[in-house]
Amino acid sequence: MATTEASQQATYSQNPSRDPKKVTRREAVTGALLAGWGLFLTGAGVGTLGIVRFLMPNVLYEPPATFKAGAPSNFAVGVDESFKDTNGTWIVRTETDPLSGRDGIPGIFALSTVCTHLGCIPAYQPAASKFKCPCHGSGFRTSGMNFEGPAPRPLERWRIVLALDGQILVDKNQKYQWEKGQWVNPEAFLKI
Ligand code: FES
Repeated sequence: MATTEASQQATYSQNPSRDPKKVTRREAVTGALLAGWGLFLTGAGVGTLGIVRFLMPNVLYEPPATFKAGAPSNFAVGVDESFKDTNGTWIVRTETDPLSGRDGIPGIFALSTVCTHLGCIPAYQPAASKFKCPCHGSGFRTSGMNFEGPAPRPLERWRIVLALDGQILVDKNQKYQWEKGQWVNPEAFLKI
């Protein structure tokens, strides 16, 4: 501040007819140019950020389509929800599954957690032995068969086989639909 006043005083000394508080035409032009450059550089910066953002699209995390679920002996008869959140799959162990042609044959199958109405995720209700969709009320048996609400078809099943290391391997690249007669496929049901 003291320096500015000193410089104004110096200017006034050199040209006493000039009011040190008045801005000269040259100073005004310089100020306008600087302001213009400032605006230009700000705009260029925003534009560059936009381009960078465009070149780096959002990346969505997709869980792997195949996963190992552990040894078959880890699963008791019933519905296992260990892989519901991470892999969108219920592992179901059953003593019999007539819907897949395995009447009286114990085994395991992998059930999709996606409701076949509009894609919500049903909740498993152990007391009622069913999956209940919170969106429009569809109900599914633990086999995956739909029995109430607007869902037009059963839940889908995934390919399930035993890996070389003895673990259950679930492959979501291959789905099996009951209405297409695909639950009888040997890889839609793991005999144990
Ligand atoms: S999405 Fe499940 S009942 Fe509509």
